[in-house]
Amino acid sequence: MKRMFAVAVLLFGCAGVAFSAGGVKKKKVPEFEYGNVVISANSVKAGVNPVLFEHWVHRKMFTCRVCHVDIGFAMKANEGGIKAADNMKGYYCGACHNGRSSFGGAVLFMACSDQYSKEDMKRCLRCHSEDKVAIEREARKEQREKAFRAFADKMPRERGGNGINWEKAEDEGAIRLIDYVEGVSTKRPPMSNQKDFTIGAKVDGVPEIIFSHKKHTVWNGCEVCHPDIFVGVKKGTDKYSMIDLFAGKYCGACHGSVAFPQNDCRRCHTKQV
Ligand code: HEC
Ligand code: HEC
Ligand code: HEC
Ligand code: HEC
Ligand code: HEC
Ligand code: HEC
Repeated sequence: MKRMFAVAVLLFGCAGVAFSAGGVKKKKVPEFEYGNVVISANSVKAGVNPVLFEHWVHRKMFTCRVCHVDIGFAMKANEGGIKAADNMKGYYCGACHNGRSSFGGAVLFMACSDQYSKEDMKRCLRCHSEDKVAIEREARKEQREKAFRAFADKMPRERGGNGINWEKAEDEGAIRLIDYVEGVSTKRPPMSNQKDFTIGAKVDGVPEIIFSHKKHTVWNGCEVCHPDIFVGVKKGTDKYSMIDLFAGKYCGACHGSVAFPQNDCRRCHTKQV
């Protein structure tokens, strides 16, 4: 039984190697860059630096739902079509980065403006940070790594991804997530509690998957998953395999880019059969 799983691991690869869509090996992303998204569609066209968005900076304070349901960010890099004008009207990044809102700490810096001084440029560069000049880019990268380490070293550890056990961090109260942003989120009825279930792995000896509907709902709400990622009107409706997951579909829509990566086989395949 155990051996079959070992064979599967060999087939799919081992720790230290991440997979891209086609199952091609690619270099492991450093912990401080895991979950980073470069948004470049409109900035490049307009001749400004692309924007680097860091998930870890934001997910330590907000649920996924605030951004991906209430604010409506796309679940795929560059598919949202975020524009400077939208940010200025208080949508997307501008829902929080508006020069007025604060979340516990100081007032958040404003997003885009059409008129700006040389002084304001510093602000632009905080988001539009993917500089064309290599020295600038490297300096920012170093700062980002430092900021990440200062935070991550206080968090419960885990291997892979950000190297942070996000779930434990929440359980232990090391982070407290905001799930409602005034003026952005709509009042919602309490969510019905969905039952956790196991998903059979279909291959002898491969441990079954325990899927916690309950925990996922706390982070994501229902709407991130249904109906876009899982049509799921009834369990078993969606047929998927590891190949689909590695291609970024179903569970792979989050696991592999933002939530813990797929080479951590045993975190999903937990139930021995
Ligand atoms: C809080 C983050 C943030 C800050 C600060 C910010 N921007 Fe943006 N900006 C964005 C994002 C996100 C996009 C969309 C990028 C893309 O699609 O390539 C964008 C896009 C743009 C674009 C592309 C053209 C368009 O119509 O969308 C311009 C020009 C722009 N910003 C100018 C500025 C200027 C000037 C400043 C400083 C005064 C600034 N931005 C500050 C996040 C920010
Ligand atoms: C502060 C807002 C914010 C929060 C909180 C947030 N996201 Fe995102 N997420 C974004 C933005 C912005 C993008 C890029 C969208 C675009 O380019 O149009 C993104 C993109 C993604 C992508 C696509 C990544 C890629 O490489 O294609 C995934 C998956 C994702 N988010 C999952 C999550 C999950 C899971 C959580 C909660 C643990 C979460 N996000 C929390 C704003 C957020
Ligand atoms: C739901 C509210 C919210 C949204 C939406 C949001 N941010 Fe933020 N952002 C924050 C908060 C709060 C902080 C401060 C985090 C901290 O103090 O650790 C922050 C910090 C940042 C920082 C500073 C990171 C650092 O350490 O210097 C950048 C850059 C940034 N956000 C970019 C973006 C971009 C780009 C977008 C849109 C694609 C965006 N944010 C959308 C709330 C938000
Ligand atoms: C992380 C993604 C995710 C989230 C968040 C989520 N679900 Fe699901 N849901 C699933 C998956 C996966 C299935 C099984 C789909 C399949 O096998 O086709 C499922 C199945 C279901 C089913 C069918 C269950 C059965 O036993 O037949 C219902 C009903 C459902 N979800 C409702 C909800 C509701 C209501 C919420 C919010 C309270 C929610 N889900 C949140 C992923 C999610
Ligand atoms: C994010 C959760 C998750 C992770 C991580 C994960 N799996 Fe899976 N695995 C699944 C799901 C879901 C299925 C599909 C089960 C079904 O629909 O019957 C599956 C199915 C499988 C199957 C059955 C054949 C197939 O392709 O459907 C094998 C073998 C397997 N996984 C091996 C692995 C190995 C080896 C790893 C580590 C490299 C891994 N899994 C990591 C969730 C995961
Ligand atoms: C919408 C994004 C999203 C989707 C889709 C998703 N997950 Fe997750 N999942 C998360 C986040 C966020 C966490 C928190 C831990 C982290 O970020 O590393 C998590 C945590 C988990 C955990 C650890 C928590 C626990 O239950 O003990 C397991 C196991 C897991 N996911 C399995 C799955 C499986 C299997 C699927 C597909 C059926 C799936 N996930 C689909 C976002 C997602």
